[in-house]
Amino acid sequence: MAGGLRKGLTSYGDTGFSLFLRTAFIKAMGFSDDALDRPIVGIADTASDYNPCHGNAPELVEAIKRGVMLAGGLPMAFPTISIHESFAHPTSMFLRNLMAMDTEEMIRAQPMDAVVLVGGCDKTLPAQLMGAASAGVPAIVVPTGPMLVGHHKGEELGACTDCRRLWGEFRAGRISEAEINVIKGRLAPTKGTCMVMGTASTVACMVEAMGMCLPGGATCPAMHSARLALAEASGTAAVRLAGAGPAPAEILTPAAFRNALVVLQAIGGSTNALIHFTAIAGRLGIPVDLEEFDRIGRSVPVLVDLKPSGRHYMEHLHHAGGIPRLLRELAPLLDTTARTVGGATLAEIIAGAEEVPGQDVIRPFAAPIMTGGGLAVLRGNLAPGGALLKRAAATPALLRHEGRAVVFESVDEMVATIDDESRAIRPDDVIVMRNAGPKGAPGMPEAGYIPIPRYLARQGVKDMVRLSDARMSGTAFGTIVLHLTPESAAGGPLALVRTGDRIRLDAEARRLDLLVADDELAARRAAWTPPPPPPGAERGYMKLYLDSVLGAEKGCDFDFCLAPEMR
Ligand code: FES
Repeated sequence: MAGGLRKGLTSYGDTGFSLFLRTAFIKAMGFSDDALDRPIVGIADTASDYNPCHGNAPELVEAIKRGVMLAGGLPMAFPTISIHESFAHPTSMFLRNLMAMDTEEMIRAQPMDAVVLVGGCDKTLPAQLMGAASAGVPAIVVPTGPMLVGHHKGEELGACTDCRRLWGEFRAGRISEAEINVIKGRLAPTKGTCMVMGTASTVACMVEAMGMCLPGGATCPAMHSARLALAEASGTAAVRLAGAGPAPAEILTPAAFRNALVVLQAIGGSTNALIHFTAIAGRLGIPVDLEEFDRIGRSVPVLVDLKPSGRHYMEHLHHAGGIPRLLRELAPLLDTTARTVGGATLAEIIAGAEEVPGQDVIRPFAAPIMTGGGLAVLRGNLAPGGALLKRAAATPALLRHEGRAVVFESVDEMVATIDDESRAIRPDDVIVMRNAGPKGAPGMPEAGYIPIPRYLARQGVKDMVRLSDARMSGTAFGTIVLHLTPESAAGGPLALVRTGDRIRLDAEARRLDLLVADDELAARRAAWTPPPPPPGAERGYMKLYLDSVLGAEKGCDFDFCLAPEMR
């Protein structure tokens, strides 16, 4: 197959003319014939004024270009959709698949022998990997990297665990409006991704564990010179990939996914990552088995002491030896023969891991933060397709709990009435929110972190059992059950719960049950009608999304994007 500029010619009915025209136009940029004869490394550039998590992307792209040219390739940066969590309406998840399609089609449409994916904010790396997996062109990831920590009154602050914690303090009246405004300027002190073990950090750690970026790629701070050096080295590695591969499917193997899921448990990572990696695997025809994931969780302890479940931040994980050092601790549970984009096997990367005397961020396997994994998969009559609980961020006393259901029909109703004292929510109630799944909201918002009613927060209530078919930010904490599947808008059992019902959570037994008789549930089901479609459902991307999006158990991908055997 033709490479470089000859790859994927535009169809004019005359291939010679197609190449002539392409060359003629690109010469407008001043390229020599020598340059145009080199292997081409595309660089998916996600810089955007709307995306501070990618604020360093311009410098990274320059460093990648330098690395490509040092290795004799021709770098060609191109823009794709960029998504920032707080600048995406209705949700970033609604747009993830659009970004995946954009990335896939731009890789396929434009001539490139390898591609470097520059991403970082929560949905971007998953979207890029979904696209790259489907496009099949050799790919390497350069994460934008985590922010440095913020400081306030002598305390270290992390976006966005402390955003939520301090907002909760403000809601409860323990922080003044003046102080919360000062804090607003200190929570995100540099460019880069959230520096706690939220979704962006979780995904980056899993990407490194899967061998899709160079060692250090997940943890090196966004603003460190070492990240620019890593970008340059990634550009050089991309030229090697352009010549001989491997293709993404040769790195993203079932063993690599399993390795990534071990790491997800060991870092006490974000629940969102399971959805994203299910979607990436689905592009390659690899099923992610929830029961297997739960089994992994039971044997893998949480070893990394990072917020929101621990104390430290991503820069501390980096200085403690980063993912290679963590992989050394986990080595007996990993397939260390797995290949990586840099050419080394996981075993070779582990052998080069740095030992940092006295570090307490990565615990020894024998002295974990928590045994039994960070994430638990629940089943039961409320979640026959599964639900997720982040045990590492939950209150231990609530992991086994029975309470009265208090139901909110939607995110909007919850927001409007959660603080309404006439609802008389009690601390031992189970707060239920529905119509917040992939189709229901739509876009499966990170609304699962249902706030504690203000009047209870003021009494000192810090946690309650809350459940929904929504997602939750990886930076949040609490006894929160998420991703109830099938979602309520698709007729899942969550749609049948009524205020006053009893609900039992038993995390140890991995059960979530609605304590209502089967015949009563059957009667409620017979009377159920689906919620009306959201505004805009009749056309455009919203229509494509609503017609095609799958449930959390399929990674919320579009049905037509999955590998054929997964549909
Ligand atoms: Fe971008 Fe947190 S908002 S990583």
